Amino acid sequence: MRKKIVAGNWKMNTTLEAGIKLAKELDASVANANVKPEIGIIIAPPFTHLASIKQVVSEHICLAAQNCADHKSGAYTGEVSAEMLKAVGVNAVIIGHSERRSYYGDTDQVIASKIRLVLDNDMKAIFCCGETLDERNAGNHFAVVKTQMENGIFGFTADELEKIVIAYEPVWAIGTGVTASAEQAQEMHGYIRKLMTEKYGKDVSEACPILYGGSVNAKNAAELFAQPDVDGGLVGGASLDPAGFTEIIKAR
Ligand code: 13P
Repeated sequence: MRKKIVAGNWKMNTTLEAGIKLAKELDASVANANVKPEIGIIIAPPFTHLASIKQVVSEHICLAAQNCADHKSGAYTGEVSAEMLKAVGVNAVIIGHSERRSYYGDTDQVIASKIRLVLDNDMKAIFCCGETLDERNAGNHFAVVKTQMENGIFGFTADELEKIVIAYEPVWAIGTGVTASAEQAQEMHGYIRKLMTEKYGKDVSEACPILYGGSVNAKNAAELFAQPDVDGGLVGGASLDPAGFTEIIKAR
């Protein structure tokens, strides 16, 4: 059985004080809700909060960063390395988010370099892929995701794939309130798993969690999570509300 995961991407929200408060409230809310211990819960606060939040949340809540540098160390002003993240107790790093791809020029090659560093530092990579609305309307959504997968993660070995979680996030569903339908999500997740099976075989593909992201909320989560290839969610806006995020976790 592959891992069920609900992850919250806080993006560039909350000051340190507000972030610590949010993390503590979520921790308490999850404990009160008797969430099944086998459900993986991940939060991805901003860089500045990671070390402090690590100190205040229980073991059940894993910590992710939203990005890392594509170089190991050295003269890269403003960057944060995978090694630095590991050293403050980070468990996973989101790589290839569409906001990084479109606003900061993260190419498939840069993304592959970042994943290499995340894995070398013994953390998990949450690899994001997904098409824009224009690409979907042109009927290119499968081809776009296939290319992102090939360039982003297919250079890794089957063993390394065990440390990669995939997040399908259609760009048109991110922050728009327009979620993919359960059928659209399942269709793409099934396709992603088929690509994984062709490349790595059934054992690897069946073990790989594929999360859906894009306007997930407490109302639509259960239907999305009921799809056979949707193993959980990568939640943006709705992860900033501890009670609502707990409802999403409970839907998993
Ligand atoms: P929203 O849930 O706000 O649409 O964001 C999704 C996302 O980008 C998570 O990484």
